[in-house]
Amino acid sequence: MRTQVGIVGAGPAGLLLSQLLHLQGVDSAVLECRDREYVEHRVRAGVLEHGSAETLREAGVGKRLDAEGMRHEGIELRFGHHGHRIDFADLVGRTITVYGQQEVVKDLIAARVDAGGDVRFEITDIAFSGLDGARPRITFAGGALECDFVVGADGSHGVSRGYVSGLTTYERGYPYAWLGILAQVPPSAHELIYTRHERGFALHSMRSPSITRLYLQVTPDAQLEAWPDERIWSELSTRFTDGAGFSLSEGPVLDKGITPMRSAVATPMQYGRLFLAGDAAHIVPPTGAKGMNLAMADVRVLARAIAGYYADGRTDLLAAYTDTVSSRVWRYTQFSWWMTSMLHVDPHGDAFDEQLAAAALRYVASSRPMATALAENYTGLPYAEGWSYR
Ligand code: FAD
Ligand code: DHB
Repeated sequence: MRTQVGIVGAGPAGLLLSQLLHLQGVDSAVLECRDREYVEHRVRAGVLEHGSAETLREAGVGKRLDAEGMRHEGIELRFGHHGHRIDFADLVGRTITVYGQQEVVKDLIAARVDAGGDVRFEITDIAFSGLDGARPRITFAGGALECDFVVGADGSHGVSRGYVSGLTTYERGYPYAWLGILAQVPPSAHELIYTRHERGFALHSMRSPSITRLYLQVTPDAQLEAWPDERIWSELSTRFTDGAGFSLSEGPVLDKGITPMRSAVATPMQYGRLFLAGDAAHIVPPTGAKGMNLAMADVRVLARAIAGYYADGRTDLLAAYTDTVSSRVWRYTQFSWWMTSMLHVDPHGDAFDEQLAAAALRYVASSRPMATALAENYTGLPYAEGWSYR
């Protein structure tokens, strides 16, 4: 079996790449180890940057996003018993769209399947060979695929990263994790609320007018068994309602999970004919809502580089891939670290750390330039020249 681009992983990165390549006449096959039902229902991120929403529209998968996605013009930061709105529309003239990652994944799978695209599920034991030659091969249980290029979009636990020789990984762990729930109850506010409470961080988000998404800072070793629904609601309520004249609506919990927090940047993001995209190369803690958006930004650059090779025989864009994406990767790594450290309570921290975090939050709430910096990063940096996917 042959294809032009063999893509490992049917997450937002792998699927979007397949779709963008298809629009430019380049064939690909997406190989995913899980089943379709699983990847379409995996609850993860929910915030699309301005540019990510535009990218999905340009890719021809914006219809349901425009009908069901919730466009937000700001967020609230809550600390010290007060809420402060960061008005994105006013500060930077851009917005975000709240639309679940699993909906993005469903839309992209449907688009690929409708166009006769090759998306294969339950493909296991993936291995690569010949990456430094012109005909790399992907082998898997029961088959093999010969391609011109291999793309590792297999997330943070994938196998692709291990094939990049001379890889350096820059890492930072955090002394906390997020417990996230999806609840069958209308959101308690129109916008996202990021709260720093003395008992820890909490986030109010949503998926639809009838579904609320909530997160709670917990210890890194927290187990779901120790968090029955009543305990989760009680802790959320304490962190959100503290002095703010706000009441949190409760409802049946539909999904519950714990996400560890880590920053990691692996470089280079390429070796021979192998290219890494998204979480396969870098992970950010979720506080800045950047993970999925960064994955999509990588893919825009990679799609253009691969299409340039087929259309004009260009190899310069492919050679420059790591360098082209790395400044955005590090910008978002710094932003996510900053948002995370400012909004969480370090269990090993002291009163000095507490004062630093409070000073950082007060500065954002009182200074237009600082609020603008937050808004610029949160809504997403504009794609520079050369970032167009074609
Ligand atoms: P993924 O979405 O991870 O896709 C990789 C795909 O590759 C998966 O479908 C996987 O099954 C498949 N795969 C892995 N290994 C193999 C293999 N060997 N062979 C074949 N297929 C393979 N970001 C936020 O902004 N907010 C959040 O709330 C948030 N919550 C998260 C919760 C969890 C549990 C995780 C893991 C991540 C979360 N993120 C969040 C981050 C965000 O979801 C990711 O940045 C985003 O999914 C990256 O997309 P991707 O396509 O690069 O990787
Ligand atoms: C959501 C997730 C995030 O990581 C974030 O910063 C904001 C919202 C969400 O799942 O809705």
